[in-house]
Amino acid sequence: MKHLLDQIGRNAVKLWHTVWSPTPVTVRRWALAAVVVNAGITVSGAAVRVTKSGLGCPTWPRCTPGSFIPAAHGETAPINMAIEFGNRMLTFLVLAVALVCLVTAMRLLPRRRDLVRLAWIQPVGVAAQALWGGLVVRSLLNPVTVSVHFLISTGLIAAAYALYARSREGDAPPRRLVHRDIRTLGFALTAAVFVLLIAGVVVTGTGPHSGDQMASRFQFDIESVVRIHTDFVYIVVGLTFALLFAVHVTDAPGYVRRAALVLLIVELAQGGVGYVQYFLGVPAALVDLHVLGSTLVWICTLRVVFMMRSRGPLDTPATNRDEFNTVNA
Ligand code: HEM
Repeated sequence: MKHLLDQIGRNAVKLWHTVWSPTPVTVRRWALAAVVVNAGITVSGAAVRVTKSGLGCPTWPRCTPGSFIPAAHGETAPINMAIEFGNRMLTFLVLAVALVCLVTAMRLLPRRRDLVRLAWIQPVGVAAQALWGGLVVRSLLNPVTVSVHFLISTGLIAAAYALYARSREGDAPPRRLVHRDIRTLGFALTAAVFVLLIAGVVVTGTGPHSGDQMASRFQFDIESVVRIHTDFVYIVVGLTFALLFAVHVTDAPGYVRRAALVLLIVELAQGGVGYVQYFLGVPAALVDLHVLGSTLVWICTLRVVFMMRSRGPLDTPATNRDEFNTVNA
């Protein structure tokens, strides 16, 4: 037992060191953690919806009118309350990682303004999401508010990914690693994926998984919105295929070619899940898997686009704050 406690203590000190005395490597790891927790909360948020727990805590910021934590309330089932409350608690984990990203970016020496600016987006964005979550509950899960809630998370994932990518490179002016037109194709692909995500949330807002029977729905014809959503899937897959072909014939760096291939594979897998869930009548588990897949498609797209350019190597070796101060004394 004592050995275990010692071990935990040592790990806690090490972890604290990565925050208070960061190196470019630890900043990068915390940024990656931010990508993961932001992606994770989109999946747990979808789990709230598909289990009909959207109004499990019917008020905000309190869970029930008289209590910040779950307490017996009218007809609300304890399980729905636990699921919705669990998702609210996850916000604190996402916020903690966001604050750590900010602290590491601010404590990194030499200070890099780009990283600090990107890191600020995390806590500000998570706080905005927490307030927006309140609007989602108070609007009784209006589909516009639910859709925007998801899309803000995709923005936070993009900002966290940018922090991750920027923390592993220098501050030289951006230099293309692929032909100019391929880079333009990459931007067009990113825009198309974002529109695909928007089309996806419109399908969700029209479909049966509202999160609670009291929630309103978009009054669109479900077949038509699904068709528009899948049309964008074809556009995205087509653009990705074109990108993959282009990076191969122009001899782009191997890691760019591999990243484009990974993106295509993830898109095809996600498309497969999309069709299966549609033809099976959108079962809850597959819908949640589809949300996970959509964030993976988004992350893999950002990855390819960031890999197509370079800002040069890091100017300083990966020293921590104390070593930096000693060297520069
Ligand atoms: C690269 C491929 C795809 C991506 C990135 C994608 C993305 C998304 C996103 C972001 C959502 C909204 C999730 C939410 O707000 O909870 C969604 C919902 C949906 N997608 Fe896709 N999708 C893809 C392919 C497909 C395909 C091929 C189909 C086949 C019909 C499909 C069918 C659906 C359906 C039925 C929903 C609504 C599920 C519900 O009722 O909640 N998707 N998709």
